[in-house]
Order: sequence, then structure tokens, then C-alpha cells
Amino acid sequence: MMSELVSPQVAAYLESLVPERPPELLAMEAYAREQRFPIIGPACGHLCYQLARMTGARKVFELGSGFGYSTAFFAKAVIENGGGVVHHVVWDEALSTRARGHLKALGLEGVVEFHVAEAVETLKQTEGPFDIVFNDIDKHGYPASLPVIETKLRSGGVLIIDNMLWSARIFDTADTSPNTEGVREFTRLITASPLWTSSLVPIRDGMIVALKR
Ligand SMILES: C[S@@+](CC[C@H](N)C(=O)[O-])C[C@H]1O[C@@H](n2cnc3c(N)ncnc32)[C@H](O)[C@@H]1O
Repeated sequence: MMSELVSPQVAAYLESLVPERPPELLAMEAYAREQRFPIIGPACGHLCYQLARMTGARKVFELGSGFGYSTAFFAKAVIENGGGVVHHVVWDEALSTRARGHLKALGLEGVVEFHVAEAVETLKQTEGPFDIVFNDIDKHGYPASLPVIETKLRSGGVLIIDNMLWSARIFDTADTSPNTEGVREFTRLITASPLWTSSLVPIRDGMIVALKR
């Protein structure tokens, strides 16, 4: 877990407030730790679940889904909201297969549609509109994803985008790598746009939560 930005004490406290999770989800967290795979973690996962419940989301599109950890939080919310669909999109077949196994074990696979493909292209080709879009692709791809998301998210829908503090690399003026520039540019675009009302929530690596007007 990333903790450079949030003190270990605060990070542990935030995680301690997340409701108890099923063993399968705990196993996914352990696997991510072992493999150093960047999942959103329990505090951000719970926030995603809460936002999906608060908005009554029935149609969710995830870009960059990994092995299904973030998907599990959205899928649980969609089922509790009365059913619908969560699109799981990752370009790696092995991760998609692993995600299917976990989501089945969690009893959540019934609402999940799996795509092994590039995420922004898949969003373009998938019928919307969506209630929630969650973006966690490679960071250099963030700016180009925004116009596509704008055409697919409904008015009043919520965009959640991860890693907006990017382990503090955004503050390092010497870092002009494509990923760091991608996070900076996306932040500029969404905060300057009259189409969005957004806040950066500094949990873990920072999530922008934005309302499409
Ligand atoms: C940060 S991880 C996702 C973690 C996941 N959201 C979670 O919290 O469980 C991003 C994943 O998406 C994949 N990915 C990155 N950019 C992508 C793209 N443009 N299209 C499809 N997959 C992408 C990466 O290879 C990686 O497996």
C-alpha cells in the first residue's frame, strides 16, 4: 500500500474504519501485497462502494480493472442497487481470468462483463450512458480518456479517477515523465472544465471524485 502521502497512523486508522471484508477479498489484498500489484485498497474500495450506493448506480464502467479487486466493490453496490452491469476491462488475459475466479468466489460475477482489450477503445465501443466511470489505466492515457468519458457518462453521473497524487511525483518539477505529466494534465483539464465539479480526496494515492453537470 502507498503510505508516503498519508501518515501510516492515519492510513491504518482509515483502513480500520472499513467494514469487515469477506475472506476472498482479504486473500486478494494479500496477493496484491505479495505481487506488489497496485490495487486501490480497502479505504478507496469502500469509498467506491459508497459512491455507487449513494448514486444508485446500475451501469458502471471500469477502465484498467486488474484482477478484479476494485470491480468487487462496484459489483456489490450494483447488486444492492437492484442489479445492472459492471464492465471489467483489462488488456491482460491472465488478469481477466484471475478476476473471473475471484468474482465468482465472491458471488458477484453475475453483474460483471469481462473485456480483454484496451480500455478507452472499449469504452468508445460500449453502449452507455453510464452512472459511474472509474479510471485506473496507465497514467499517460488519462488526458485522452476524458473526452471519451464525457460522451459516455450521463449528466449527474460520477467519474472516479485513481492515483491523482501519484506518490507525490506530481510535486517534483524535475519529473516530466509521460505518466506524471498525464496526471498533471488530467487534473488541469477536469478542474478547469465547466462540465465537471470535482474534488481530490487524499485517501491512499488520491482519488478525484467528479460530478458531470
Ligand atoms: C492499477 S491496475 C488496476 C487495479 C484495479 N483498479 C484494482 O484496484 O483492483 C491497472 C491495470 O490496468 C491495465 N491497464 C493499464 N492501462 C490500460 C489500458 N489502457 N487498457 C487496458 N488495460 C490497461 C494494467 O496493465 C493493470 O493491469
